Amino acid sequence: MEIIAHPREMQEQARRWREEGRRIAFVPTMGYFHQGHLSLMEYAREIGDRLVVSLFVNPTQFGPTEDLDRYPRDLERDTRLAEEVGVDVLFTPAAEQMYPPGYQTYVTVNGLSQGLCGASRPGHFRGVATVVLKLFNLVMPHVAVFGEKDYQQLVVIKRMVSDLNLPVEVVGCPIVREEDGLAMSSRNTYLNPEERWSARCLYRSLQAAQQLVADGKKTREEILSTVQQIISQTPHTRIDYVALVDPETLQEVAAVQGAARLALAVWVGHTRLIDNTLLVET
Ligand code: PAJ
Repeated sequence: MEIIAHPREMQEQARRWREEGRRIAFVPTMGYFHQGHLSLMEYAREIGDRLVVSLFVNPTQFGPTEDLDRYPRDLERDTRLAEEVGVDVLFTPAAEQMYPPGYQTYVTVNGLSQGLCGASRPGHFRGVATVVLKLFNLVMPHVAVFGEKDYQQLVVIKRMVSDLNLPVEVVGCPIVREEDGLAMSSRNTYLNPEERWSARCLYRSLQAAQQLVADGKKTREEILSTVQQIISQTPHTRIDYVALVDPETLQEVAAVQGAARLALAVWVGHTRLIDNTLLVET
């Protein structure tokens, strides 16, 4: 595996591969790998013949009071794990190279970025869309793989790719969970043992919602009140949002008709966790 830190060098490598007719698969990340990241890499490995993983803790997607400075990092371990999966290039640009002095260009995906996480993290998806477009221009992937864990992010990126006619196929992969159902996240390391125990309520509430739909209870009121009740009964938690939305437009829906996404963000102690699931009418 090669580690490339310089953006221009990454672009030159990508160009060479394209000239050779290679199909480039790409997984953008902020590092501190867990099985969720690795599942995306394993999938991407299968659908391309060159695999690039970027590791960049992108400052423009963090708010001023958020955890940019303490975001967990372990380059040595990440390098070993990426190598084991069969990554060809680990791309690790520095913030000064991605955003040099004078930088002033940003991408905004308007409507889709506003609700859900966008409401409590203003500017977050502008930072995400901007860095992902920059990374696409440097890695020049044929296909890019994202996790459904960050469902709104996946929808925003798909919209950007479509709106800007980017020659990239965007693929979403399922959420990888711990044994007790907690969605894997680099931020889970912030949780103390009591909070970690409480954090199980996110997935338990999603499962309860699935059961409701299976029992024919499909209205927004029935679903949201059950989810809110399970979470608010759990110590150390505070709901940021719980929403039942159309899977493509992310607009709120009144009931599960066909399919809907149930998405939530919950503070557990000082850590904000997100999760979501597809609800399908049976
Ligand atoms: P990061 O949080 O490191 O996540 C990188 C990718 O891993 C994203 O596509 C995310 O959805 C996916 N992922 C995280 N946890 C997962 C899980 N439990 N199961 C499946 N996939 C999971 O998302 C970002 O970084 C950044 O916003 C980025 C896209 C790199 C732009 O900076």
